[in-house]
Amino acid sequence: MTSQSDLTKRVESLGLAQIQRHVFICADQTKPLCCSKEDGLAAWDYLKSRLKELNLDKPTIERPTCIFRTKANCLRVCDQGPIMVVYPDGVWYRATSPDIIDRIIQEHLIGNQIVQDCAFLTHPLPTPANFEGDHDHQ
Ligand code: FES
Repeated sequence: MTSQSDLTKRVESLGLAQIQRHVFICADQTKPLCCSKEDGLAAWDYLKSRLKELNLDKPTIERPTCIFRTKANCLRVCDQGPIMVVYPDGVWYRATSPDIIDRIIQEHLIGNQIVQDCAFLTHPLPTPANFEGDHDHQ
């Protein structure tokens, strides 16, 4: 059990309030269906290390936002994996081998261009209408 100040420190050290994009990737599955467990883990390890290497995983002075990454046990697509989804853009990618992840990082996460030949759906999430009223009370 941690205190509120510990939680605040975690929020700061992870850069949660500076997240620009959140990437989920299917890896280390309980039931590996979209790809082998090895391919999922290779994709996850590559994503993690490449974001870190490029200083995209934490906010910096030069770039005050960050890319957050999460290993999902299964994204429920269960075909042609490793499956990856990038929010808030809502772009779903298939067959994300390390080579493809490198393209997604360079072209999409840095260059803001969807890697069309690996994307199988683009569906940005709608703004939740019921939150709009909440802002009125602030
Ligand atoms: S096992 Fe990868 S999406 Fe379900």
